[in-house]
Amino acid sequence: MQQTTSAAGRSGHLELGLFGANSTGTSMSKVPGRWHPTWENNRDLVLAAEAAGLDFHIPLARWRGHGGESDPLGVTFDAIAWTASLLAITRRIKLFTTVHTPFTHPLVAAKQLATMDQIGEGRVGLNIVSGWHREEADMFGIAQREHDERYEYTKEWLEVMLEVWSQDRPFHHEGRFFNLRGVVGDPKPRGGKVTLMSAGASRAGRSFAIGHCDLLFTILTAPEACRDEVAKVKEAAWNADRHVDVYTGAFIVCRPTRKEAVEYHEHVSREMADEVAIDNAMRQLGVNCHSFTPEFYAAFRGRFASGYGHYPVVGDPGDVAEELRRIRDLGVRGLAISFIDFAGELPYFRDEVLPRLAEMGVRRAG
Ligand SMILES: Cc1cc2nc3c(=O)[nH]c(=O)nc-3n(C[C@H](O)[C@H](O)[C@H](O)COP(=O)(O)O)c2cc1C
Repeated sequence: MQQTTSAAGRSGHLELGLFGANSTGTSMSKVPGRWHPTWENNRDLVLAAEAAGLDFHIPLARWRGHGGESDPLGVTFDAIAWTASLLAITRRIKLFTTVHTPFTHPLVAAKQLATMDQIGEGRVGLNIVSGWHREEADMFGIAQREHDERYEYTKEWLEVMLEVWSQDRPFHHEGRFFNLRGVVGDPKPRGGKVTLMSAGASRAGRSFAIGHCDLLFTILTAPEACRDEVAKVKEAAWNADRHVDVYTGAFIVCRPTRKEAVEYHEHVSREMADEVAIDNAMRQLGVNCHSFTPEFYAAFRGRFASGYGHYPVVGDPGDVAEELRRIRDLGVRGLAISFIDFAGELPYFRDEVLPRLAEMGVRRAG
């Protein structure tokens, strides 16, 4: 039961999209000129991304910021409302939405996703997040589940959603977390279900994605580790008679010269790093999330300043294109990129990097 997310998926090209423009983006930096989300700039950005031929956008789901002077993610547009609105005004680009399973009842999510899939004529995808942020759970008055149990809960949550979409008659669901009577739901998604992605890099997170999703969205810590992870995910999926692809993220700084790009990246991730916000985020993540090792936090503090831990790709257009080719060659199917200023930096990336990727055969031409 393979679902590809676009024509690029079928031809083995790298699918390329944006990550997190519905929020302040991935940076934890005080650098001037950084992205601040509004409806108008998001609308224009996603239309520009579609016109440039990008394949998708994945929004962040966040309910509170990380504090400090820049308060990263303090402004985050609701991913459901954001995606639904953009599906209505786009024609080709795939738009994921991101849903926190502990904060959203699966019947509500089933109807929202089915509605969005109708609006977008089959272009919606679901990025499933099981919730790691304890202060967010506190905001909802929900006790934070133990790490691996979160994925048990999400598994049953997803079962309910898929049942709503597959059943034409009222059904009962009796499980460990949900006891539901006489459940019905219409409309259904156009193709019966939507593309399912799970974000989470721990063993439990990975095995949930392998068993139940089409895509695993994970952090690229180091290229060799990523190659290994992709191979393991594909092999485990294969053994379970499934097909799962891996998406990952990258933070891009592309400038006419390598020197300019490196200097700007240093400025963003060191001189202007929002140390208070980074400390807060690392403390919150370190306690609740198993995606990163303690060594990663210590070694890659700068990566949090620029890209929330995502892999930095920094250089002139040739360097950036070459690095994206290397990422594609790790077996990664999709790369979700972010910039300090999405709208300001996308045109240069479109004009200088996308044609190089097409020439190199990393992406389809045109
Ligand atoms: C690429 C990526 C994107 C994520 N996006 C979100 C998000 O938008 N909102 C959120 O609350 N958690 C997000 N997460 C967190 C995961 O859903 C998960 O809770 C976290 O990685 C801890 O899971 P793990 O310990 O299994 O890795 C993301 C994680 C990754 C790796």
